Amino acid sequence: MPKTYPPSAKTIANAHITAENYGPMYEQSINDPDTFWGEHGKRVDWIKPYTKVKNTSFEPGNVDIKWFEDGTLNVSANCVDRHVETRGDQTAIIWEPDDPNTTESMHITYAELQVHVCKMANILQSLGVSKGDRVVLYLPMIPEAAYAMLACARIGAIHSIVFAGFSADALGARINGSDAKVVITADHAPRGGRSTPLKSNADAALLHCKESVKCLVVKRTGEQTTWTDRDYNYNDMLLEADDYQKPQEMNAEDPLFILYTSGSTGQPKGVVHTTGGYLVYASMTHQYTFDYHDGDVFWCTADVGWVTGHSYIVYGPLANGATTIMFEGVPTYPDAGRFWEVCAKHKVNQFYTAPTAIRALMGAGNEWVEKHDLSDLRLLGSVGEPINPEAWNWYNDVVGKGNCPIVDTFWQTETGGHMLTPLPGATTLKPGAAQQPFFGVKPVVLDPQSGDVVHGNDVEGVLCIGDSWPGQMRTIYGDHERFEKTYFGDYAGYYFSGDGCKRDEDGDYWVTGRVDDVINVSGHRMGTAEVESALVAHVAVAEAAVVGYPHDIKGQGIYAYVTLMNNQEPSDELRKELEKWVRAEIGPIAKPDLIQWAPGLPKTRSGKIMRRILRKIAEDDFGALGDTSTLADPSVVDDLIENRMNGS
Ligand code: WTA
Repeated sequence: MPKTYPPSAKTIANAHITAENYGPMYEQSINDPDTFWGEHGKRVDWIKPYTKVKNTSFEPGNVDIKWFEDGTLNVSANCVDRHVETRGDQTAIIWEPDDPNTTESMHITYAELQVHVCKMANILQSLGVSKGDRVVLYLPMIPEAAYAMLACARIGAIHSIVFAGFSADALGARINGSDAKVVITADHAPRGGRSTPLKSNADAALLHCKESVKCLVVKRTGEQTTWTDRDYNYNDMLLEADDYQKPQEMNAEDPLFILYTSGSTGQPKGVVHTTGGYLVYASMTHQYTFDYHDGDVFWCTADVGWVTGHSYIVYGPLANGATTIMFEGVPTYPDAGRFWEVCAKHKVNQFYTAPTAIRALMGAGNEWVEKHDLSDLRLLGSVGEPINPEAWNWYNDVVGKGNCPIVDTFWQTETGGHMLTPLPGATTLKPGAAQQPFFGVKPVVLDPQSGDVVHGNDVEGVLCIGDSWPGQMRTIYGDHERFEKTYFGDYAGYYFSGDGCKRDEDGDYWVTGRVDDVINVSGHRMGTAEVESALVAHVAVAEAAVVGYPHDIKGQGIYAYVTLMNNQEPSDELRKELEKWVRAEIGPIAKPDLIQWAPGLPKTRSGKIMRRILRKIAEDDFGALGDTSTLADPSVVDDLIENRMNGS
């Protein structure tokens, strides 16, 4: 029996949620959601209070999700204005630059944040952006990214953030996908001592977009960029911009943002989150999961290009009046002590990162941690993929010194906030398990083949959710049918997460990883189909199949089987060329770790690629190949096994 960790008396004494109140609150949240959320919905300020709470249906053909549907509010008023009245001089955002030796960190108070957000809102309005319009953000991790998010929320525009690590092509597709009016970018993005030319990527992307799309350019490094007719200089416009603007009254179900994410088929889809339910859920999970209290300094190391940055750098913490850190850099620059140096410098109380970073820093050695004073840390969090017990133990012993509960939070872009997570004052921790549902979340384990509900404990299956919660995505932008098919098509009446899970003998949940063709590389979610379509777009490639394989640091690596055109010879140059090609098509995060030349791919007689077999070969698990007799040409498998690539 692996060791478990009950909450300490000290943690329980201060905690919002303890073992005593978790049970009754959870029961009410499931059995009487109208009363539970009717009460907890009041944690945000409403312009017109709601009279209806939950109106949701997971019925096939009629999936419809509405929360607080007759209430009105503004997210920027909730994240900024209401705190200016009570804590205007408190730091809202601490900005920590990529290079601490050349650039100072910045503290932005709530009163200052209001001015920045209002000016940005006025600038966007002067560019013709109004309620319901889409604005794409392609920015480094600088305060202007938060200003822009909140400015959009203030005027009712819908933001769609594209991670600065995505290529020009990926950016262009997302600008067109949401028919955006404006793109906000910066000259360059410094990261880990390197610099990405964001503006020139945006220029390349915009070549494929409507001429009317405007580009607002923020100065970050001051490096030279070209200027075109569609460009607007943010720093110049700031000088003229008015420093107040009244927040728009938004309906609870008006969209707040679109965020593209990868699925098992096709191109990334635009996940739509709305205003009221999302904010209630992001702020409540932030407060309870991290046991956040007034005056705490909270650091989530994610990028605002991912959902984690939306919910736990910007919306959750700021709705709660927290001090939140925005970090521009990477864990290992200028050295492997950077995270811990920042924790010490800003006296961080809650620290939230991904297992891939923990594993990389564990490999760098304990001395990097021990150099820094981490005595203000009270809680540690993990997100993005299952955390292996070795990394959990290191995080607990070396970083937390045995004094900080670890919350292993399972959730998704689609869920808006935490779904399964320990609560620090209530849960006896089990390394590697996300353990318990958050309030309002009804996990259900289904048999993957029959779709039957698996009852009892010590069972396995696929993870579904039985009813709606306020932070749930509402639709896929412009394609509600795809939304229904993707999430409600496999198991009627349930939201299907795409993950496998087990419920152990105590009723705790362990998420075991994706059961579809989504892989998780360094905590970044990637559809194998996207990488495949990038590869086959190269002239030398006839066919490609991409799978994940276990990788010591990244969690999963990208393994590509590539069949070349008849006239092409395999070579190391071509391999490099294909890597470069995928970087350009999608971005550096999608670069295959291993490319195997495959004279043929295992296919059924009807021509379907048998990915199960390719996964097993990549995982070096030949014993479990299963039945290969249905293959059109079983001999291709022998060739693939013989020439398997090695790496980790
Ligand atoms: C995986 C990130 C195990 C899971 C917030 C999910 C996890 C996907 C955990 C969503 C965790 C995230 N334990 N697996 N604590 N957290 N995942 O949309 O496979 O980028 O479906 O959201 O990450 O990734 P996404």
